[in-house]
Amino acid sequence: MRFAVDYRVVLLIAASVFALSPGKSGAQEGDANAGAVVFKKCATCHIVDSDTNKVGPSLNGVLGRKAGTHPDFAYSASMKAAGDGGLVWDEATLRDYLHNPRVKVKGTKMAFVGLKDDQEITDLIAYLKQYSK
Ligand code: HEC
Repeated sequence: MRFAVDYRVVLLIAASVFALSPGKSGAQEGDANAGAVVFKKCATCHIVDSDTNKVGPSLNGVLGRKAGTHPDFAYSASMKAAGDGGLVWDEATLRDYLHNPRVKVKGTKMAFVGLKDDQEITDLIAYLKQYSK
């Protein structure tokens, strides 16, 4: 009898550890606060909280935007062509681009080597999303 009770306790503990683990591996989820820190790498050239262009176009509302179409920014011919060819910024295309800008958009004038860490990109996209509707 006593053994049976202990067994149930063990099961309960095992079940709750199991239930908590998806939260822990929430490494898959984007953390916008961490993304704000990653964005410092972009902030020399990009503003996200307003429509102002700097060296690079404003990233306000970038998710869902056709590449090369922010008003009053002098894009490279490559970026405009990519947009005309159907490139729209969403999670997947941003991930590719941020990994290696010059591979995704050959001839882009964005002088940035890219982010190697997937989690950094995930967090960054979560941050950018806050400024996209
Ligand atoms: C050294 C300056 C610089 C840095 C750093 C930089 N960018 Fe850029 N970015 C640019 C320029 C310039 C363009 C325009 C590229 C073109 O026209 O080919 C651009 C374009 C983009 C575009 C395409 C926007 C559009 O309207 O089509 C995205 C998205 C982008 N950058 C995201 C980022 C992110 C996110 C980071 C940080 C991880 C970053 N960039 C870092 C200069 C920079």
